[in-house]
Amino acid sequence: MTELETTARALVAEGKGILAADESDGTIKKRFDSIDVESTEDNRRAYRELLFTPDGIEEFISGVILFDETIRQSSSDGTPFPKLLESKGIIPGIKVDKGAKPLALTSDETITEGLDGLRARLEEYRGLGARFAKWRATYSIASDRPSEYCVWTNAHALARYAALCQEAGIVPIVEPEVLMDGTHSLEDSARATGRALQALYTELHDQRIDYRGTLLKPNMVLSGYEASNRAGIDEVADATLEVLYKHVPAGVPGIVFLSGGQTDEDATAHLNAMNKRGAHPWELSFSYGRALQAPALKAWVGKSENVEAAQRAFHLRAKLNGAARTGMYAPEMEREAVPA
Ligand code: 13P
Repeated sequence: MTELETTARALVAEGKGILAADESDGTIKKRFDSIDVESTEDNRRAYRELLFTPDGIEEFISGVILFDETIRQSSSDGTPFPKLLESKGIIPGIKVDKGAKPLALTSDETITEGLDGLRARLEEYRGLGARFAKWRATYSIASDRPSEYCVWTNAHALARYAALCQEAGIVPIVEPEVLMDGTHSLEDSARATGRALQALYTELHDQRIDYRGTLLKPNMVLSGYEASNRAGIDEVADATLEVLYKHVPAGVPGIVFLSGGQTDEDATAHLNAMNKRGAHPWELSFSYGRALQAPALKAWVGKSENVEAAQRAFHLRAKLNGAARTGMYAPEMEREAVPA
């Protein structure tokens, strides 16, 4: 097995998944605004330290996606974050895209930027300890969206990123995110997701990517958040699996879903329902940002005396998602108190 495949498989080891803690400056500011905490460099550092240090978190967390600032920061005892994570057996990763920007000559679609200079940045990140990376493209759903233009330009960029990663010995997580804002139906969501995936795997193949050294980070197929009669847990699980079976090659070792604004409990329940229907050709796991962090953020509110409570809240979310990896989650487990 190549080093890339070994790393990809370790990231989707049984019972484990990925913590996405790679919020850009703008996004972390939004999260901190929601708890009335100022987004200073030290507050960001303290918050990330809280997430990386709960005892036993490595039982459920295989890897953490870091932001450029975070991969250069250290814990309060001076240990660089990538070293701290490695010492717990957690694999450090890095967000390398530069964000979704307006796609020229469209009214409201985006193209993800960040390819210029990427080869040199990947080399530096590997030196800092990163063994996997992430690039996120976004697509919205409306009568004329996503356009073929948006689907194919983003697929091309995702594949260029993935090729540079594999050349650098870094596992690319490819993240085509169909956004779930709006009133669209489950069927609309399935169609848009299928189109984005089909274009992505066409480009990955054409650009010589070895699927075995990659992971896919897709949205789940949901009804739009503002739709009436939204699909339930089982319908979402079935619709998501159907799209994945149609479009994702079996050589991909794992599919690590994003949470995309679902409630914590829905994100866990959907993953659980899909794993209950297994075995599948790929591991089905999580790479959640909000759905893993929300309770911890709320418990912390920027106060050092709340760090332990916040860590317990995060530990519980990680444990429940770990259970969903094997279809062993039940909603009653939400009430379980984590020992201090
Ligand atoms: P969410 O789980 O909050 O959607 O974040 C995952 C992520 O990394 C988005 O790029």
